[in-house]
Amino acid sequence: MVLTLALILLQAQAAAPTFHRDVAPILWQRCAACHRPGEVGPFALLRYADVRKRSEQILERVEAGAMPPWAPTGESLPFQDDRRLSPAEKDVLRRWVAAGAPEGALEDRREVPQFPEGWQLGTPDLVLEMPEAFVVPEDGPNLFRNFVVPARQKQGRWVRAVELRSDNSRAVHHAEVLLDKTHSARRCDARDAGVGFAGETAGGASKPEGFFLGWTPGKVARGHLAGTAWRLPPAADLLLQLHLVPTGKPEPVRVKVGLWFAPEVPSSSPSWRAWAPR
Ligand code: HEC
Repeated sequence: MVLTLALILLQAQAAAPTFHRDVAPILWQRCAACHRPGEVGPFALLRYADVRKRSEQILERVEAGAMPPWAPTGESLPFQDDRRLSPAEKDVLRRWVAAGAPEGALEDRREVPQFPEGWQLGTPDLVLEMPEAFVVPEDGPNLFRNFVVPARQKQGRWVRAVELRSDNSRAVHHAEVLLDKTHSARRCDARDAGVGFAGETAGGASKPEGFFLGWTPGKVARGHLAGTAWRLPPAADLLLQLHLVPTGKPEPVRVKVGLWFAPEVPSSSPSWRAWAPR
């Protein structure tokens, strides 16, 4: 009897998922965009030592649906870059934690992935930058702040991809890029003594038609859909809208916008239609 029990226990242990074989690939794919050095997550989830001591907390946050952060609800629409864990992946985590979070055999160890430093999409055709850094005060409420970034191109361009890079991912909750063809935001800027101007107003700046140009911490950069691009007129400004959060110390923030140009006129344009769950 005791022997049988011991045998069952041994078998269960042998079948239990291990960090190197089963758990690391899940965390690298689903969590490491934010949970690695320099990104927004409060700790790295790359190595066994990082993960083991937090294994129960990780499972608890995943079961609660709090991690990875994922706002959409409903299952009927597929999303690009969906980072939710599949039921099978959750099951691996559950069984791994229940087995005491074993490391597993060192032969199963994989290379910790290399994440691109700098622009995810390669070298931009044009980099535009906030003229100066804005310093987020150490405390106080969240703030919206707008920054005019003149494009100063000799000719109009078709833009096929946009990537934002912030030199500070702790204090930036999210960012949006708008296009200002009439320089109206410059007038708002002139009325505010600080770097940029306050508030959620954007003058006459708006989204280029059909495109959402935004950034959140951990975002995977993507070019626009193949064959689509938006028009950047020669003297237009971009308007960077930043939602900023005080962190307890003054945080200078300077954001760059990388643009990639399409060699020719786009062959199609994005459209949207209202969608309601059936
Ligand atoms: C889009 C960025 C992002 C992704 C992806 C992400 N996290 Fe997080 N995580 C955060 C941030 C930011 C915090 C700190 C703020 C908070 O707790 O909400 C955090 C906090 C946590 C905490 C601590 C929670 C607490 O209560 O203190 C755990 C555990 C965690 N994440 C696990 C995970 C796991 C596991 C995954 C992948 C399955 C994951 N996270 C994916 C951004 C992310």
